[in-house]
Amino acid sequence: MAVQADNSTLSVNQAQVDEFCVGRGITTPDQEKSAPSMQPDSRVEVFRKRLFDRFDWLRRSAVRLALLFWLLFTVCFGIAAYVVYETLQDRVLARIDQSIADRFVETQDVFYREGIDAVVKMAEARSTSPMTSSMGFHLSTPQGERIAGNVPVCPTEYGWEIFDGQTLGLVGDNSVYRFYTGKVGGNVLSLGKSLDALVELRTIALSSLMWTALASTMLAFLTGGFFARRTHKRVAGISRALDIIGQGDLTARLPVSYAGDDIDSLSEKINSSLNRLEYTVNSMRQVSTDIAHDLKTPLNRLYITIEEAANRSRVGVCVGDELDGALEEAKAINATFEALLRIAQIEAGARKSQFKPFDLASVLDTAAEVYAPVVDEQCQELRVDIPGHQTLPMLGDRNLILQLVVNLIENAVHHCGDDTVITLSAGESDRYVWFRVADTGPGIPDPEREKVFQRLYRLERSRTTKGTGLGLSLVKAIADLHCGKVILADNKPGLAVTVSFARNCPTEC
Ligand SMILES: Nc1ncnc2c1ncn2[C@@H]1O[C@H](COP(=O)(O)OP(=O)(O)OP(=O)(O)O)[C@@H](O)[C@H]1O
Ligand SMILES: [Mg+2]
Repeated sequence: MAVQADNSTLSVNQAQVDEFCVGRGITTPDQEKSAPSMQPDSRVEVFRKRLFDRFDWLRRSAVRLALLFWLLFTVCFGIAAYVVYETLQDRVLARIDQSIADRFVETQDVFYREGIDAVVKMAEARSTSPMTSSMGFHLSTPQGERIAGNVPVCPTEYGWEIFDGQTLGLVGDNSVYRFYTGKVGGNVLSLGKSLDALVELRTIALSSLMWTALASTMLAFLTGGFFARRTHKRVAGISRALDIIGQGDLTARLPVSYAGDDIDSLSEKINSSLNRLEYTVNSMRQVSTDIAHDLKTPLNRLYITIEEAANRSRVGVCVGDELDGALEEAKAINATFEALLRIAQIEAGARKSQFKPFDLASVLDTAAEVYAPVVDEQCQELRVDIPGHQTLPMLGDRNLILQLVVNLIENAVHHCGDDTVITLSAGESDRYVWFRVADTGPGIPDPEREKVFQRLYRLERSRTTKGTGLGLSLVKAIADLHCGKVILADNKPGLAVTVSFARNCPTEC
């Protein structure tokens, strides 16, 4: 009986083979076939990559700047050293030449005044050997016969020449000499001086310049390296912070070293933009949260009213009242939305671009004029305690400030009862312009004074009255935009709201 092996059960599938081999680091025959062997080209590629990785630091701008600085410094130093060296050498040589020329003229004078014998005498008197300490003299006839002097061999050419001691016949003398040869009467006079001083000066100058060059280039290299390292550290810190911000953490800030340089000022600018961004994002988040939490109830109410109206209309009952209620509710929700968005927009600071100078006193007058009839209707009294001629100039958005004043007057009107006296006062100092809305109503208890600035927050006693709880949030947002402060205080009795604006408020966000 032929046994047939079932391929599907006996054979191990390719995926299993691969898994087994990968787990043990074995190359399967298929992989061997497909994997390209390491060709010389790819080895060069790998080597190049490693080389680039190793010298990656050279691509940092700080390192490049430091190297450039070092190179420039070295080149400038080289040029300066060359100029100094050449000038020094020329000056010394010129002095030596001058002293030889002076002596030659002096000798000529002696010849013309006293004759050749006096010159010979003078030459012999001065021709002490060795001549290194004095001058070299050689007086000869036009035919080259030596008359006097301390130099054995006479220079043959007229004019300036440089010789070494051997050429002049000075045995064992390796010094270099500068000679001038000219005619004195019919004879030939050569005068010369050793250049040992010049050679020595050259040696000293060269070695000092070399050491200075070495020390200063080392110093330039080390200083450049130090600053490059420091700058790289700072740039790396900034890059790390930006990575964190990029991942969504808006609380991270760029490091500022307080060295006060351009990197710091750039970091500070980016940080202040991040502050703004964080603030805007947070206030947007806050708006979303407020909407989610506080608009839920009125929306539910609206839903129930409409549902009720629908049920009643199905059985033929008139639903006019329900629809009116729904309309009112929808209007209130709409007003709340608009107020929330307005606050968010003001907090974002975009309206700063519309800042213009205006008179705060005239804004208070306008608000008082508009609200006088409303206050009368409520049997309240509105007093304006600002001298008629006083002007209170400030910089800002006039319409927003009017809105702020109106919100505070409206609060006094709505949250205080009959016979309340509302007083508007204002003033200024060197640094501030301020105004106050004070009433004689129930006031706000101390622990609640911070909370009323929160969006949609209302005191328990006001829950039944009309309002959204956004009036003071808007007041705070407008004041912040104008670098202002809002202080709620006890008016004994009542509430006194003082708003003061700093005069030096920047007009940019
Ligand atoms: N002058 C005031 N006297 C007494 N309580 C006040 C006064 N001003 C504000 N409040 C209290 O502070 C709460 C918050 O005021 P806010 O102006 O923010 O909201 P609102 O007046 O209730 O509503 P909205 O101004 O949005 O119509 C008010 O509900 C009220 O309880
Ligand atoms: Mg209000």
